[in-house]
Amino acid sequence: MHWTRAPILRRIDLGHGYFLLDIDEPEMARGFVAGQFVMLHREEGDFPLLPRPFSACDLLYGDRDAPVLSPDDVADGASRDPFGMRLMIHVMGKGTASLSRMDHGDSIEIWGPLGNHFRMDDAIEHAIFIAGGIGLAPFPILSRHLRARHPGLQSATLLYGARSARDLIYRDELEQLGIDVRYATDDGSEGLHGTSLDLLRDELRKPGRDTAMLYGCGPEPMLDALARFAVAGGYRCEVSMERMMGCGVGACLACVVPVKADYADGYLYEKTCIDGPVVDVDRMFLAET
Ligand SMILES: Cc1cc2nc3c(=O)[nH]c(=O)nc-3n(C[C@H](O)[C@H](O)[C@H](O)COP(=O)(O)OP(=O)(O)OC[C@H]3O[C@@H](n4cnc5c(N)ncnc54)[C@H](O)[C@@H]3O)c2cc1C
Ligand code: FES
Repeated sequence: MHWTRAPILRRIDLGHGYFLLDIDEPEMARGFVAGQFVMLHREEGDFPLLPRPFSACDLLYGDRDAPVLSPDDVADGASRDPFGMRLMIHVMGKGTASLSRMDHGDSIEIWGPLGNHFRMDDAIEHAIFIAGGIGLAPFPILSRHLRARHPGLQSATLLYGARSARDLIYRDELEQLGIDVRYATDDGSEGLHGTSLDLLRDELRKPGRDTAMLYGCGPEPMLDALARFAVAGGYRCEVSMERMMGCGVGACLACVVPVKADYADGYLYEKTCIDGPVVDVDRMFLAET
């Protein structure tokens, strides 16, 4: 884990409260594995804000003035090192609004990489990413890591659900990732009129997908529904939990979640920031409905 004050290279406005922050921090960027996150802390005026957690969305290579996300000659860090990272942020409240006012020339207190990462191994032939809203954030880096490091991967599919067409962001970059992207919206303004879980039911009918590795990230009700679906169907599935976090390093207990245990009354509490944020759905404590 690295703790520093890092320069912001640029803020890229994606509209409707979504933006990207490119951060110049080579040492941290080199250590990232898909699923891990950073804590950002900003003091604006006399308003000292608690730090906030953000997933690494992608890594930056090459020229700082014109970085590339996936240069052809780089197998994601195998031959050249990244010099920074890209975060994808949606304005929710005071913290994210404050971050949205940052730009080139500012610097920010940052620590990471934090937490565990998504499972990646050579046994994965089909990967399906299930994203809800800003839960899209960790999947660009995950798809790159899987494709670069596991040549046995035959397909990678992103099932991306959001409220409305205007909340489906980063679409050009997603197409460039070389993954199959399918969209769903709650209001039917783009793609399937439904959720990413509806897309998943359809996707799993394709040949070979019954052994696919599922990865989920999004709002808690979506992850809960995905976990129930995956457990009932016996699918391999990991999700990245979103919890309020105060420190990111295991000190404040703001982020505890119950997970299944073999003893006592059947569950124990783990800290999402150090034991997570990624958890296998078989370990999730799903309340009875
Ligand atoms: C591991 C991890 C990775 C994350 N990655 C990203 C990311 O890549 N991009 C991104 O935009 N956001 C991400 N988040 C969520 C992000 O940290 C919160 O949106 C942010 O903390 C909200 O801060 P705020 O000050 O703007 O909102 P606040 O003013 O603190 O809260 C605004 C509203 O959002 C709710 N809220 C705040 N934090 C969370 C949370 N963690 N989960 C659910 N509801 C919350 C509050 O209850 C309140 O209703 C991540 C969270 C975690 C735990
Ligand atoms: S965020 Fe402080 S213990 Fe997890």
